[in-house]
Amino acid sequence: MILVFLGPPGSGKGTQAKRFSADKRIPQLSTGDMLRKAIASGTELGKSAQEFMSKGSLVPDEVVIGLIRERIAESDCQSGFILDGFPRTIPQAQALDALLRGEGLQVQAAVLFEIADRVLVSRLTGRRTCLKCGAMYHVETMRPRKPDVCDQCSSQLVQREDDREDVILKRLAVYHDQTSPLENYYREKGILEPLDATQTPDTVYTSLRRLLSSG
Ligand code: AP5
Repeated sequence: MILVFLGPPGSGKGTQAKRFSADKRIPQLSTGDMLRKAIASGTELGKSAQEFMSKGSLVPDEVVIGLIRERIAESDCQSGFILDGFPRTIPQAQALDALLRGEGLQVQAAVLFEIADRVLVSRLTGRRTCLKCGAMYHVETMRPRKPDVCDQCSSQLVQREDDREDVILKRLAVYHDQTSPLENYYREKGILEPLDATQTPDTVYTSLRRLLSSG
């Protein structure tokens, strides 16, 4: 099972990918998480990625394609994986297809998380993330039991550097300009699966399960 989760920043790709990954026991591959890990480790790749991410721009294609190429070769990806936030440009999608073709594989479905931009700004400004275990919260809709402390590993929650309103607006513009052409790319292949991402996380998850079991 090879799935692409496609949608604007804050549409809930990460939230749903984590849950689906745990249910199906296939890994969630988030290029955003991989890049943030590289930044936290202070690697050269991380330093150069930070310049793009802090402004809300995309990291160059060759960098993220390299990360994904290495990651999908790992043994835990043998039964499938969920791509969360990759591909984000047509060249990334073409590179992914070529990589998979080489192994006799292909993307099974590209799930499009559909939601209006105006909802996304408040979702993202209110997001709090655990840098240690990756759990996600929202200051209004998904509060941790203790303010700013992760329920799962008791680490401090943080606000992502790119979750400031000015950067969010730039990320949304980048999505519409550079990533939304992928909707047609996958539609033409007959594997685009639109999902109403405006509902509660539980309702979205039920729809996602239904959509992927019928697809
Ligand atoms: P990345 O980390 O991938 O961020 P993103 O795509 O902008 O997506 P987000 O993580 O912001 O949102 P999401 O859709 O996962 O929503 P979430 O579930 O967290 O990328 C960051 C940066 O890295 C990019 O800007 C770029 O610079 C770089 N990058 C990454 N991949 C790249 C690539 N392939 N190519 C080039 N550059 C790349 O939910 C958001 C909030 O809403 C949370 O607080 C959550 O609790 C809440 N929420 C979720 N679902 C619901 C719901 N149904 N109702 C109410 N609230 C909800």
